[in-house]
Amino acid sequence: MTYDVLRKRLEEIIDPGFNQPLKTVNGIKKLVVGPTGVAEVEIYLKDKVKHETAVKLQIIKMVKLEMGFPGIKLDFFESEFVPVGEKPIKYLAIASGKGGVGKSTVTANLAAALIRQGKKVGIIDADVYGPSIPAILKVGIKPLTSTEDEKMIPLSQDGIEVISTEFFMPPEKPLMWRGPMLGKMLVHFFNGVKWADGVDIVLIDLPPGTGDVALDVKTYVPKSKILVVTTPHPNASQVAVKAGIGAQNIGHEVIGVVENMSYYLNPCNQVREFIFGQGGGETVAKKLGVKVLGQVPIGQPKDSYLFSGKEEQGKVYDQIAKSVITEMEI
Ligand SMILES: Nc1ncnc2c1ncn2[C@@H]1O[C@H](COP(=O)(O)OP(=O)(O)O)[C@@H](O)[C@H]1O
Ligand SMILES: [Mg+2]
Repeated sequence: MTYDVLRKRLEEIIDPGFNQPLKTVNGIKKLVVGPTGVAEVEIYLKDKVKHETAVKLQIIKMVKLEMGFPGIKLDFFESEFVPVGEKPIKYLAIASGKGGVGKSTVTANLAAALIRQGKKVGIIDADVYGPSIPAILKVGIKPLTSTEDEKMIPLSQDGIEVISTEFFMPPEKPLMWRGPMLGKMLVHFFNGVKWADGVDIVLIDLPPGTGDVALDVKTYVPKSKILVVTTPHPNASQVAVKAGIGAQNIGHEVIGVVENMSYYLNPCNQVREFIFGQGGGETVAKKLGVKVLGQVPIGQPKDSYLFSGKEEQGKVYDQIAKSVITEMEI
């Protein structure tokens, strides 16, 4: 009886992110009343970080003061509910473990290749200490504007929408923020951006390493998938394996591996020279139980800051983009 009343009252609580009752948005993850009468409740909320405190107070007040339960154990999770007719944003995080293997370069060129395939693409530059996407894409930095409900409108270049900490820093000053502030910044990148209507995919350029930001991604975009970038060299591939396994351990699906700087195509005789060794991509893919989606040769774009679909590298990126489209079902 009490249990049923409690469930009903909880179902009536409004999820402020959706402005709908929890019942409508599948907001109750768990509801158990233990033998001592303590209620154990898990709630899904849209924009959890923004609304958790207010909803928590509301629920505690209701359960303990109004309904007289002796105690409550209450946890919140980011909602996975998608209203009918709305397209969920699909996220793909690019991880490598090691820096300098070309993660940001791959992210930017993959975005361009996805656009060549007719997709709408955004990039979150989550490498908060070393943001490089704006530089790679030559995004002209200007103050961001926001929507009426205070969502940031990303800057865009060649049809790629971008959000980056670079946009919030005075030019040529190093970033002096501390961890907690950066964490807050990331939350806004995941929940507070107004991407173009119908955006098909948002790529997340992760910082090197396997740490905090990967966990943040799990918290804020639990369904994000992962693409692992490595070079053919064992030093890079060993760390890439760790990054990939770390992601799998916290429940992310790794969709494949990109091997970057795979070889140099000698223009004189068209022979592939394996400057950084061979086999790194394959090793990582085997260990993670996925495929190598492409091997990008060494080189710089000729006419622009990104590879065109006519260049060797651009063709590899087109291939990778097609695999990404299949794997992400976009
Ligand atoms: N396939 C490639 N051929 C030649 N240089 C590359 C290639 N991929 C990346 N680079 C260069 O390597 C450097 C590091 O790349 P970057 O994308 O910043 O790596 P990360 O984001 O992993 O730290 C950059 O100077 C970039 O231009
Ligand atoms: Mg980078």
